[in-house]
Amino acid sequence: MSRISLSRLFTGIRRITLLLLVLAVSQSGSAQQPVNVLIVYYTMTGTTQSLARLVAEGADAVEGVNVSLKPVESVTVEDLLEARGIILGSPTYYGNMAGPMKSFIDSIGLVHGSPFLAGRIGGAFATGGGSAGGKEHVIVSLLLAMINTGMMVAGPTYGDGQNGYALPGAAAIDTGNPDEFSATEIEDARRLGRRIAEIAVTLAD
Ligand SMILES: Cc1cc2nc3c(=O)[nH]c(=O)nc-3n(C[C@H](O)[C@H](O)[C@H](O)COP(=O)(O)O)c2cc1C
Repeated sequence: MSRISLSRLFTGIRRITLLLLVLAVSQSGSAQQPVNVLIVYYTMTGTTQSLARLVAEGADAVEGVNVSLKPVESVTVEDLLEARGIILGSPTYYGNMAGPMKSFIDSIGLVHGSPFLAGRIGGAFATGGGSAGGKEHVIVSLLLAMINTGMMVAGPTYGDGQNGYALPGAAAIDTGNPDEFSATEIEDARRLGRRIAEIAVTLAD
């Protein structure tokens, strides 16, 4: 082989090696992209916002997650599409979710042409004025809406998988002080955020 063709060969090999290196670096970079977990809440007097912050704390504890906490009034459908985990929270109004949360959910289909949110994991939380009064119904209504967009849903869990129990979501009673929750309410909210974030990370793999 002549000296010229040998040097061309080496130049070619160098170029291919460089290209492979660039590809490998870009691949490893995309694997490290944080997974978005979006927490959307409606609040009038602050209780649901405080519970949302606890849910966010739980999600934030999971590595590789980027948590956004947003009032429903400022959420866009693009925010939903960019998230791998979506957690909705609402006060209980007459046994159901508050109107602004329902209007937002309805707007997903009415204004935006029903984007399909399959491949995302959802969770829900609620606050209410009494120990009964509909908080669990609010949670189930929020989860049902998410199932109807194609999402999967989950709640907080306790135990090791063999021995334990699961809840449909997190709930808290409004004591009149938006930052006053029981230890169980705080733990449920944090566990909800953590579980949704953990599942979101596995879905993004
Ligand atoms: C219009 C209205 C209806 C309500 N209906 C219920 C209800 O059916 N059940 C209940 O437990 N609490 C009910 N509440 C109490 C709220 O759910 C509770 O105070 C809630 O935690 C307020 O959330 P926020 O502080 O995030 O606005 C109602 C409050 C309002 C303003």
